[in-house]
Amino acid sequence: MAEFRLPKNSRIRKGQHFAAPDGVSNVRRFAVYRYDPDSGENPRVDTYEVDLDSCGPMVLDALIKIKNEVDPTLTFRRSCREGICGSCAMNIDGGNTLACTRAIDSIKGDVKIYPLPHMPVVKDLVPDLTNFYAQYASIKPWLQARTPPPPDQERLQSKEDQELINEPAACILCACCSTSCPSYWWNSDRYLGPAALLAAYRWLVDSRDDATGERLDELEDPFRLYRCHTIMNCTQTCPKDLNPAQAIAETKKMLVERRY
Ligand code: SF4
Ligand code: SF4
Ligand code: FES
Repeated sequence: MAEFRLPKNSRIRKGQHFAAPDGVSNVRRFAVYRYDPDSGENPRVDTYEVDLDSCGPMVLDALIKIKNEVDPTLTFRRSCREGICGSCAMNIDGGNTLACTRAIDSIKGDVKIYPLPHMPVVKDLVPDLTNFYAQYASIKPWLQARTPPPPDQERLQSKEDQELINEPAACILCACCSTSCPSYWWNSDRYLGPAALLAAYRWLVDSRDDATGERLDELEDPFRLYRCHTIMNCTQTCPKDLNPAQAIAETKKMLVERRY
C-alpha cells in the first residue's frame, strides 16, 4: 500500500497510523480528519487500516469498527444507520454525503473522511450546526392557518396538492447541500442556504397554509434568498435526491409573479 500523502501546503498535519492486525488480507485504509479545538493543536489526519472481511459494507460501518476496536476517541454523529436521521453527514471521498448509505466499495483507493466543509468543528467529524438549525427555525417550519380546522376531521388536501409537498417534505436536514454551496460558505450569516430555503418552499406550496404572503416577504432580501446563484452543488450532492436548487428557483418565480 503506497504511503498516504496530504495535499501540498496543507495546514493539516499527518497524525497517527493504525496498522491492520497481522494476517488479514482484505485491507482498506481510511484517512480520517481529527481535531479537538480544546487541545490547541492543529487538525491532523489519522490513518486506519481496516479489515473489510470483518466489517459491514458502508463507510459508517468502518467508522464504528474503528471506534469500537481501535480508537475510542474518534468522534462522529450517527443514529439511524438507514439514511433517515441525517446525523452521519460528512465529506467522504470529496463529496458531502451520509456515511451510512455510502458503500466502501464505491470508493477507489484510500477512503478520505472530513467533516462537512466550512462549518466550525466541535470535534473530529462533528460540525457545529447551531446556525444551520437557527436558520431552519427562522423560516417558521410549521403550518400557519388562519381558519379553524373542520370540527370532525383533519385539514384535508387533494392528492395533487399533497404531491407538491411530497418531495420537499422528504428533506432530512442533513446539511449536505448547504455545506456544499459556495454562496453559503461565504455568507452563511445572512444567506439561508438551500436546506432552509427548501423547507421554506415546502410551506409556500402547502395548500393548507395561509401565511404565503408573510413567508415571501421574509424571503425577499438580497441575502436570505438572492445569494443563490444557481451553482447547483446542492442538488448534485443531496443524498436523498432532492432538488433544493429548483425549489429556490420556484420561490424566486413566486416573488416575481406576485408583483404583476
Ligand atoms: S443552486 Fe443556489 S443553493 Fe444550490 S449550491 Fe448553488 S448557490 Fe447554493
Ligand atoms: S435537501 Fe438533501 S442535502 Fe439538503 S438537507 Fe435536505 S436531505 Fe440533506
Ligand atoms: S445514521 Fe442516520 S442518516 Fe446516517
